[in-house]
Amino acid sequence: MRNGFDIEKVRADFPILSHPVRGHRLVFLDSGASAQKPRQVLDKEREVYETGYANVHRGLHYLSEEATANYEGARVKIAGFINARHSHEVLYTKGTTEGINLVASSYGRKFLTEGDEVIITHMEHHSNIVPWQMLRDEVGIVLKVIPVDDDGSFHLDQFRELITERTKIVSVTHVSNVLGTVVPIKQVCQIARDAGAISLIDGAQGIVHLPIDVQDIGCDFYAFSGHKLYGPSGIGVLYGREELLNEMPPYQGGGDMIETVTFEKTTWADLPHKFEAGTPPITQAIALGAAIDYVRDIGIEAIGDHEAGVLNYATQQLASVEGLRLIGTAAGKASVISFAMDCAHPHDISTIIDQQGVAIRAGHHCAQPLMDRFDLPSTARVTLGMYNDRDDIDALVQSLEKVREIFA
Ligand code: ALA
Repeated sequence: MRNGFDIEKVRADFPILSHPVRGHRLVFLDSGASAQKPRQVLDKEREVYETGYANVHRGLHYLSEEATANYEGARVKIAGFINARHSHEVLYTKGTTEGINLVASSYGRKFLTEGDEVIITHMEHHSNIVPWQMLRDEVGIVLKVIPVDDDGSFHLDQFRELITERTKIVSVTHVSNVLGTVVPIKQVCQIARDAGAISLIDGAQGIVHLPIDVQDIGCDFYAFSGHKLYGPSGIGVLYGREELLNEMPPYQGGGDMIETVTFEKTTWADLPHKFEAGTPPITQAIALGAAIDYVRDIGIEAIGDHEAGVLNYATQQLASVEGLRLIGTAAGKASVISFAMDCAHPHDISTIIDQQGVAIRAGHHCAQPLMDRFDLPSTARVTLGMYNDRDDIDALVQSLEKVREIFA
């Protein structure tokens, strides 16, 4: 128990953790790719399908009204979790990727013209690179990249040097999915605002470790995924400031996003529905609400504090593994540990430790420009969730010793 955080109780909430993998205790260190789900989320999904499922916003029958109330109720919970001013500033998406594409496509095509600039960092996930390249090909924008230091640090000075009066969008990650670097997004958003640019934060790896207050951060958009926040896959959130969302055209056309339709002319529904065409992931949205209840009950600060303790322990323990090099050691980093070993390729590391029930990710982590920056084809990567403990790290280190025995 640490600051009211009871790791045994938390672990008991995640049924998958009690299922052995290859005859070993599961050591799940890949939550940055997708987190495991607590019973409370699983139960909520089953409850919806068993007792409260129908399409939303459409039927006038009991189940449709119930599903709609729960679906909209989850939106209110999400808005509270990130301290949005209005729940209609919370748009349901498929995930972070769709949120960023929505902004690039809707805001980008309407408001950016040839020569306008979009600024990103060198440590972006492909989902915060490629949509801007697509906009560049279509509109002729200029994509500028804030450098990253050798230790993975982000420097505001280097950002200030890039921003100009032509900068229209600053789109940065909150937490690097490879380096764990925490970008000072509040200052970034302030600098962007002062220059007349809007800001978008890729919060996929941020929202799971850090408290988010979009009003305090001062961002215009904040995108995240449900499945990394202990909720279902197929559901995500784009927070957007009301004034901007009202000015933006719809991202997709179809049912639910209209007010009236004739063959001559269609008018749009109000927020948030203008951006939610088609039948949404109903159960997933409601279960994301349950995941948020679960995280709030424990407390995101308590979770972050627990993870920081495990991260420190892991960093110390990994230092004892001969030939292991950490990639990304910026001060104040979050729970992501990339590493390379002199004796083995990351894919071999991952395959061998998997035999001991240890799950990590190996590859370029959808961040190929960052791999090029560090002159690496790939890394091995550990990402922590609230359920990881020191035993997991001990098992990791032991399994890495096996890798050394085999390859060194
Ligand atoms: N973006 C996820 C990761 O970093 C999938 O693993």
